[in-house]
Amino acid sequence: MEFRDLAAEVAVVTGGASGFGRALGACLAARGMRVALLDRDGGRAEAEAAAIAGEHAVEALGIGVDVASGEAVRAAAGVVADRFGRADIVVSNVGVQLFGAVERLTEDEWRWVLDVNVLGAARTAQAFVPLLRAAPRGRLAFTASSSVLSPAARLGAYQTSKFAVWGLAETLRLELAPDGITVSVIFPSGMASRHLETSTAAQPEHLRRAIGEQDDFRAMAASNPGMVRAVVSPHEAASAVIDALLAGERYIITHGDVVDAVRAVGADLARAAGAARRAGAAPPPSSPAEPTPSS
Ligand SMILES: NC(=O)c1ccc[n+]([C@@H]2O[C@H](COP(=O)([O-])OP(=O)(O)OC[C@H]3O[C@@H](n4cnc5c(N)ncnc54)[C@H](O)[C@@H]3O)[C@@H](O)[C@H]2O)c1
Repeated sequence: MEFRDLAAEVAVVTGGASGFGRALGACLAARGMRVALLDRDGGRAEAEAAAIAGEHAVEALGIGVDVASGEAVRAAAGVVADRFGRADIVVSNVGVQLFGAVERLTEDEWRWVLDVNVLGAARTAQAFVPLLRAAPRGRLAFTASSSVLSPAARLGAYQTSKFAVWGLAETLRLELAPDGITVSVIFPSGMASRHLETSTAAQPEHLRRAIGEQDDFRAMAASNPGMVRAVVSPHEAASAVIDALLAGERYIITHGDVVDAVRAVGADLARAAGAARRAGAAPPPSSPAEPTPSS
C-alpha cells in the first residue's frame, strides 16, 4: 500500500487513549494517517493524541466521549467531520471487563457490560457510517476478543458481549457491502494493558465492586491455561495486524495461539452440519423451502 494513499485518510479509534486502541492509532499515524482517539478519559485521549502527533508528524485529535451515550458518540462524529471532513477507517474498540460466574452476575452488571461493549459498538457504527459511506474506501472494524474463539470460565458477560459484537459485525458487513464499506472483526488475545484499571474507572457507582477476584482469575486460568500464557504488548499486537486492518480483511487475529481452538470449533460445526444433512433435515435442491421471517 502506498504511503501517499494513506496520507489523506483519517482513522478514528474508540477506546483510543490506552492499550490496543492507542497502539492502533499510533500504527495508523505511522502510515501517515490523521487520527482521532475517542475515549471516556478525554484528558488522556488529548495527551496521547498530542504524543502521536509529535511522534509521527500527523494531525491527531483526542476527544472525550463515553460510548454509553448515543448523543456523545454522534457529537464526536460531528467533531471529526468538522475537523477532518472525513473518516476512512473507524475502529470500535471500547470494551469493559467484568469477571464473575454466570450464576452470580447481577442483571445490572449484565446491562452495564452489554450496554458499553455491544450497544456502544452499535452506536459507534451508526454515528460514523455516514462518514465512511462518503469515503473512497471506508473500513469499519470491531475489536472482539479471542476469548470467543477459545473461551474461559468466569468471563460470561464479557464473552457474551464479544460474541454479540461479532454478530453485529457480520450483519453490518452485509448491510454495508453495497456501499463498498468493508467490515473487520479483530480477535486479540492477551495484552498487557490497563484493561482492569480502566474497566474499574468506567464502572457506574451503583455497580462498584472488584472487576475480578483471585478466585475468578484462578478459575479462568484453570479452564483455559493458554489464555494467561500468551500475553504481548498492545503495540506488538497492533503492529501484527495493521496491514490486515488497512486491507479491510474480514477476520483479524493478533496472536498465533488460537489455531487449534479455531480448528476444533470449525470441525465440530462441520460435523453437526454434516449430521443434519445426513439426517435429511434439509429441503431437496429441487424444491427450495420458503424463507420464514425467523430463519
Ligand atoms: N487486554 C487484553 O488482554 C484484551 C484481550 C482481548 C480483547 N481485548 C479488547 O481490546 C479492547 C481494548 O482493550 P485494552 O486491553 O487496550 O484496554 P485499555 O483499558 O488499555 O483500553 C481501553 C480504553 O477504553 C476506554 N473506555 C472504557 N469504557 C469506555 C466508554 N464507555 N466510552 C469510551 N471509552 C471507554 C478506557 O478509558 C480505555 O482508555 C477492548 O475491547 C478489550 O475488550 C483486550
